[in-house]
Amino acid sequence: MNQQKPSPTIDTVSAFNPEFRNHPDQILDQIRSAHPVLHDESVDAIILTRAKDVAQVLNDRNIDCDPRKSSPGSRLRQVHRVDENFRPSLLRMDDPDHKRVRDLVSKAFNQASVDALRPKVEQIASDLLDSLQGRSSFDLIETFAEPFPMAVIAELLQVDTDKREDFLQWSKAMNQLFNPRPTPEQLASLKWGSASFHAYLKQIVDQRREHRGADLISSLITAHEGENTLTEWEIISTCELLLFAGNVTTTDLIGNGMFALLQHPEQMEKLRVNPALLPGAIEEMLRYDSPVTHVARVARDSPGIDGCPFHAGQTIYSLVNGANHDPALHLDAHAFDIERENKRHYSFGGGAHFCLGAPLARAEAQIAFSLLLKRFPSISLKPGAEPVRKITPSFRGLESLWLTVPSTEETRS
Ligand code: HEM
Repeated sequence: MNQQKPSPTIDTVSAFNPEFRNHPDQILDQIRSAHPVLHDESVDAIILTRAKDVAQVLNDRNIDCDPRKSSPGSRLRQVHRVDENFRPSLLRMDDPDHKRVRDLVSKAFNQASVDALRPKVEQIASDLLDSLQGRSSFDLIETFAEPFPMAVIAELLQVDTDKREDFLQWSKAMNQLFNPRPTPEQLASLKWGSASFHAYLKQIVDQRREHRGADLISSLITAHEGENTLTEWEIISTCELLLFAGNVTTTDLIGNGMFALLQHPEQMEKLRVNPALLPGAIEEMLRYDSPVTHVARVARDSPGIDGCPFHAGQTIYSLVNGANHDPALHLDAHAFDIERENKRHYSFGGGAHFCLGAPLARAEAQIAFSLLLKRFPSISLKPGAEPVRKITPSFRGLESLWLTVPSTEETRS
């Protein structure tokens, strides 16, 4: 009997599917060629994998972000646990609130504030690497990729140094933030992480109202545009977003990027010989193995794409790695090539919600890889310690990345 293969669904491209975690390209290629505009009837969502469609959706001001606008019972509502108390953070706001809040946050957090922070970021990275001196093997994720971005954000917000370990634990507890079906333990952990962040930040915001400093929280309190200022909720939810969105993603960029270099030693060698290739190499790391797997939007009634109309409330999932590896956008799209001329990727999203932390993420990655390559002139995967992918919905990263350094090696530059 001729058995038809069932159409892929949102579960096919989820972090819970081991095949997708381990071989995303194969699955994304199949979907892109057989179902470029895929309708998942089980959750009434559209799934996009072509770069041109992803760009169209992200740039369309008539497509929304707020999960409250999605159909009742949608996966998006489940993911954001939408109830009568739900309030979107900047990431999920629509205009006019999104524009107002983003403009105010951008006054305090922008390329200039990142440039001013750069010496501190270098110091943080250098101190963390000092602590690895003399070790013949270490887990890059635990010892560096996780604590580094967290310490940077703590510096940006000027929060107590002794709170950094708590921050990391709260942030890890929130790893399942975008899990549509968390276990009771994961849900409890998520609530604990979020409530702990919120309570701590509320206390700090109250203190900074009284005593402002040269930190991002004080700048968010001060930021104004005419009569407009940020409300307390907007300040706290933005700080929470920076702490969470800027943490797991940067950890995953460092882990995925180092793994890509180790799997392509000729590319690592090119970078060692010519450090001027670093900015392009970071863009290729982002393109090749994006830390964010998809971005979600909510449709309004429209003609849609390729004769597949969108209807109001339908969720549209843009698969970032699908677009980044689209052969219509990139020649030899699955190759890792740090000298690739066309550096276009969707790993920071696009349009109105383009990642506000992109300048910081790029600076952190440049500093991290520059120091790592300098301090470890030769480095390899630890034999027998195969890297394992994390199961973190919406994100793609490594649980651990064990590296071996030859024992005679100089670990200080
Ligand atoms: C490699 C690191 C990073 C990646 C891959 C990344 C990725 C993204 C993506 C894809 C979006 C858009 C989401 C959407 O459209 O629904 C986004 C938004 C955002 N990101 Fe990042 N991000 C990274 C680092 C950071 C850092 C370091 C910060 C800040 C400390 C940050 C803060 C934000 C904020 C505030 C938004 C919301 C912007 C808005 O909705 O207007 N991100 N990020």
